[in-house]
Amino acid sequence: MGIAEVALHTMPGAFAAHSPASNLPLIAGARGRRKRSTNSLPNSRALHGPVKFPGLRSVECQCQRIDDLARVTEGNGTWVKDAVDKASHALGDVRVPGQAVGGNGSLNGSTVKPPPQRQKVSSVEDEAWDLLRESVVYYCGSPVGTIAANDPNDSNPMNYDQVFIRDFIPSGIAFLLKGEYEIVRNFILHTLQLQSWEKTMDCHSPGQGLMPASFKVRTIPLDGDEDATEEVLDPDFGEAAIGRVAPVDSGLWWIILLRAYGKCSGDLSVQERIDVQTGIKMILKLCLADGFDMFPTLLVTDGSCMIDRRMGIHGHPLEIQALFYSALLCAREMLTPEDGSADLIRALNNRLIALSFHIREYYWVDMQKLNEIYRYKTEEYSYDAVNKFNIYPDQISPWLVEWIPPKGGYFIGNLQPAHMDFRFFSLGNLWSIVSSLATTHQSHAILDLIESKWSDLVAEMPLKICYPALENQEWRIITGSDPKNTPWSYHNGGSWPTLLWQLTVASIKMNRPEIAAKALEVVEKRIAIDKWPEYYDTKRARFIGKQARLYQTWSIAGYLVAKQLLEKPDIARILWNDEDSEILNALSTNRKRGKKVLKKTFIV
Ligand code: GLC
Repeated sequence: MGIAEVALHTMPGAFAAHSPASNLPLIAGARGRRKRSTNSLPNSRALHGPVKFPGLRSVECQCQRIDDLARVTEGNGTWVKDAVDKASHALGDVRVPGQAVGGNGSLNGSTVKPPPQRQKVSSVEDEAWDLLRESVVYYCGSPVGTIAANDPNDSNPMNYDQVFIRDFIPSGIAFLLKGEYEIVRNFILHTLQLQSWEKTMDCHSPGQGLMPASFKVRTIPLDGDEDATEEVLDPDFGEAAIGRVAPVDSGLWWIILLRAYGKCSGDLSVQERIDVQTGIKMILKLCLADGFDMFPTLLVTDGSCMIDRRMGIHGHPLEIQALFYSALLCAREMLTPEDGSADLIRALNNRLIALSFHIREYYWVDMQKLNEIYRYKTEEYSYDAVNKFNIYPDQISPWLVEWIPPKGGYFIGNLQPAHMDFRFFSLGNLWSIVSSLATTHQSHAILDLIESKWSDLVAEMPLKICYPALENQEWRIITGSDPKNTPWSYHNGGSWPTLLWQLTVASIKMNRPEIAAKALEVVEKRIAIDKWPEYYDTKRARFIGKQARLYQTWSIAGYLVAKQLLEKPDIARILWNDEDSEILNALSTNRKRGKKVLKKTFIV
């Protein structure tokens, strides 16, 4: 990465001590243009008033700069930029006529749009749109995201009053499909600024490309002016999150949304910006960095994705692998060719091939494969062992013997030496279809399994986050006796309405939209009556989750995305990746070669 790129990508106030950009002069005049606001907030939900934050690390409110930076040109170490007054138009240049979001303009000191007097709504869909708009978070008057949950009766929202990167994805897509692009564009550019944050936990800094799990817009007193306040973006990279979990999925989702934004709006100028290109490369570099791994899958700690608590998914969880594969493909499509990135593209291509081979071969189970595992020989010392990971057949749990249908299959949750996690994880399997990590045959088989296990996976509310739940001793050991993750609750076999949107994209891609339509019907029966819960409990998803938030934004947005996609299935293309012929060729060559060299194995 050249110095220019680093500097363009790094915000003042956010300079890492080791960043080469920290020696470069900043753009002048930014403080003068900073947005000021008075302390009187129009709405008590609007981030609960100004607070003092000792030692707060924050990006000052300077929305205009996001676009100014794109116009910055390099000239002997200093930055030249367009006239300041042009900047006031920034961030508004992709607004489409009739756009509703952000139309209210600035709400001084307020980040969540005050709820309009709710009119009589005509349908679940209308109510969902009203709620989604009410959840919009503003920064300096521009919409930048959606709050995770927006329940006016919740007196202790914890961090659910923040904009989560992963939670915003269905919100962003719902807005894109509605032709409202501004909020997505702002979200992409503002979270990009946060990527370069100097982040530390107990003196340790994670990699530079890490995207935060969430961020909050705070209103704080302006230095040296008692009567004025300013808005700042305050990210959480996991250093405040429960369990201090690393949000590995954030950057991957960011890349996926960036591509969807370009495809849907036709505005490729965002992905072509130097700072955005740098952001993509930083995420890739972090993911593709060499380590001790023997596998092409991404090695992560427990709780580094949607399941952000200890659930025994450390290692190589499927969800991360599917998002990783998808993000690699999306990034490859968006990276502008330049000499400096040839090595990165080569590494990316190699990883794509190795990753798809690894997942398709070793994560796949169906009736036939299970039978093979059941008869595995163990302790094979050789280069071409059949049981490469030394899986002991006793690991096949009794539930699975009964559960695996004669038609259908799925990718297991995780693979480690001597360990296959046979739990079915919905998001990882669905995103494997969407990203074409699964072959066409496997994709259909996953959908066959969902259909044949409908009463386990959908029942009274789609969709089980994973199946089955960990119970008794397993629950005690694997979750650490987590009272939130008791069997058939929350991450441990709870049902999450937001997963409907991923199910919809996957079933439309495989030309089987009736599956999603059937699930949507189930959702519509009760989700609005139940006040849009975050998740449901019990084996058949009969109860609203014990600790589920109400008016959970991604439950609302997930429903809206499913609804819109089923009306216009063609648009789902903005989200999926077609099977890549180069990868396919490389895999079939690999297999042919593999057959030739197959040698005798040794049982030690
Ligand atoms: C919970 C979920 C996580 C989500 C967050 C905000 O922690 O596990 O996936 O992002 O809530 O809704």
